[in-house]
Amino acid sequence: METNIQAEPKKRILSGIQPSGALTLGNYVGALRNWVQLQKEEQYESYYMIADLHSITVRQEPKDLRKNCMDLLALFLACGLDGEKEPIFFQSHIPAHTQLGWVLDCNTYMGELSRMTQFKDKSRKHADNINAGLFTYPSLMAADILLYQADLVPVGKDQKQHLELTRDLAVRFNNAYSDTFKVPEPYIPKVGAKIMSLQEPTQKMSKSDPNENSYILLLDPIDKIVKKIKRAVTDSEARVCLGEGKEGVENLMSIYSAMTGKTMDEITAEFDGKGYGDFKAAVAEAVVEVLRPIQEKHADLMKNKDYLESIYRKGAEMANYTARKTISKVYRKVGFIQP
Ligand code: TYM
Repeated sequence: METNIQAEPKKRILSGIQPSGALTLGNYVGALRNWVQLQKEEQYESYYMIADLHSITVRQEPKDLRKNCMDLLALFLACGLDGEKEPIFFQSHIPAHTQLGWVLDCNTYMGELSRMTQFKDKSRKHADNINAGLFTYPSLMAADILLYQADLVPVGKDQKQHLELTRDLAVRFNNAYSDTFKVPEPYIPKVGAKIMSLQEPTQKMSKSDPNENSYILLLDPIDKIVKKIKRAVTDSEARVCLGEGKEGVENLMSIYSAMTGKTMDEITAEFDGKGYGDFKAAVAEAVVEVLRPIQEKHADLMKNKDYLESIYRKGAEMANYTARKTISKVYRKVGFIQP
């Protein structure tokens, strides 16, 4: 007798990173590392994007932007994403992002956008260039996600507010024009969702920090990574555990946990009776062990421009196919005449 077992449709994932400079360990722990793990799981189908359109909300030198874009693509692959199996693409190669971005702009309220903490932060940092794109950035990000009918969006904690707006916009559009978009769920890791500055552990680790000792770049030379970890701010208690006023130690514990898979309790037990010197040496070793092979792979890939090009072209083809379906549905629903 023939059985007719229908496979469950795969859940779809979309996420992106801006190519606005070198990636930090925060980007890796909060996002990229989880993308690689999720891509290995059979039940998902994933789309990973280099958010170049987003990056010009802050002024970019064109030649640096080009370099950063290729660097980021090579890093995606070096970290373990499989661009042959599933799309890795540049956002600017898919016209539907800006097309849907506009429709969503017209469905987003000024009040919602002015409440976005990232807009407030970036306006403070770039007071001479508070442009309209910076303001409407969250609607474009919503378009990135909704275009692909994503179920799940793996991001760090700092993107949570943008995800909430995305969900609101999806529901608003669905209510106004009938069911069109999947309402996506954020996927925020339990450990490492917000890696903090090594110098001011109450602030997020960020590449725009003027103090370069506050962040680790994935492509920092190995000796520099070790030095930065050794210089990380801790406290005077000299005990590796969680507690009030121990944000610096907690941050290093999160990094160590993300690199080794050990829990916070296991880490506390491992360093019981040991000082910060031993602890920092172990954290540095664990980070280097993860980053060294990534750096080597990245250097190899950067020598192979043809291969990188083949990956992003194929990625754009696959992404365009899915994105076009959604945008034509949206255009029809809002009442535009079919071309
Ligand atoms: P971006 O480029 O600032 O950061 C990329 C990813 O890295 C995470 N992240 C961190 N996680 C933990 N600790 C940190 N210190 C840290 N710093 C950054 C971010 O949460 C993010 O997941 N708007 C997005 C890019 C984007 C996007 C999208 C993301 C554009 N369209 C659609 C998801 C879906 C951004 O600026 O991320």
